[in-house]
Amino acid sequence: MHAGNTHDAATGGVMPAIHQSSTYAYPALREQPEHIYTRISNPTRDAFERAVAELDGGARTFAFASGMAASSAVLELLEPGDHIIGPANVYGGSFNMLKAAGEARFEVSHVHQNEGPQAIEAAWRGNTRLVWMETPSNPLMHITDLKAAAAVCTARGALSCVDSTLATPLATRPLALGCDISMHSVTKYIAGHSDVLAGTLTVSSDDLAARLKAVRNRTGGVLASLDSYLALRGLKTMALRVGRQFGNAGRVARALQEHPKVAQVHYPGLEDHPQHDLAKRQMDGFGAVVSLRLRGDSNAPERMLNALELFTIAESLGGVESLAGFPPLMSHSAMTPEAREAAGITGNLVRLSCGIEDAADLIADLHQALERI
Ligand SMILES: Cc1ncc(COP(=O)(O)O)c(C=O)c1O
Repeated sequence: MHAGNTHDAATGGVMPAIHQSSTYAYPALREQPEHIYTRISNPTRDAFERAVAELDGGARTFAFASGMAASSAVLELLEPGDHIIGPANVYGGSFNMLKAAGEARFEVSHVHQNEGPQAIEAAWRGNTRLVWMETPSNPLMHITDLKAAAAVCTARGALSCVDSTLATPLATRPLALGCDISMHSVTKYIAGHSDVLAGTLTVSSDDLAARLKAVRNRTGGVLASLDSYLALRGLKTMALRVGRQFGNAGRVARALQEHPKVAQVHYPGLEDHPQHDLAKRQMDGFGAVVSLRLRGDSNAPERMLNALELFTIAESLGGVESLAGFPPLMSHSAMTPEAREAAGITGNLVRLSCGIEDAADLIADLHQALERI
């Protein structure tokens, strides 16, 4: 609520104004104003960035026009020929980004990072400069041990960057665990209302901040002031929303686990999740995404999704309304079938993003839809 102390300095407004100006007047030629040009800085965006920096516990936050714009900026910190170690299960858009990066300028490997730091060490090369992590992973909710992974990166001299979107800054603080960069698709839980696209990078040091500042000024994918305002407004109620959403997801996961038409439920809050103990140590709460594998024929996911009434079939996650999707056709459609198979994104997998509705209503909706498969 109070992160970043975002009151408007000029007027005392409890919320900052939406500073809708692309440029700023110089008092005289050699007297630079505090803000020069909105691609470089903007008072509304600064207020949002201060709030995220405090939540993430970092030296500085940079807000971008989308999560993917933020992620892509991290790759600009590397040199051609550098090697990146990514996760086997990762958001489809990030998989795409790493695939294109591997084809154009870098070397890229994907490893099962949830199996522990030894999986990362085994893939290490002399030119490894970045370990890209995502925890919990989308959609399988794999958990990576960030403290152990960060220790490997620090010892061997590579950057560690964590897509912490599904955890939120309230549940996991990658920088406190030794990682260099914490990334969020703000579009999801931080903004929280499915009405804005945004992304952030929070860095651990002033040196990284200076390097990323130069990248962002050069590449220009900044968050606009109106969207910064919306993201900040959303951030102020994040604790309430996320608390409710995580609680709903836990109840939904347990209800699905007992259903005869469900073969498997992926949710780190369940005792049988392979990294449940790690999730308990590393996270405050277990997230609000639940994925499930259905029994039945290959059309079962489609029949279930089309029968849902309260869950909306849509891309994205993290908003106040519950959403449901079929990763092979939606969030992970750009992956080849082989890459999906290797990542465990099979044809019977459904992803749920739990919103703030009443948990009993969500469970009733899932039960009636499961009856129809
Ligand atoms: C885990 C994760 N990271 C990154 C992104 C990309 O964010 P954006 O859609 O804001 O570009 C998404 C979007 O679904 C995501 O789920």
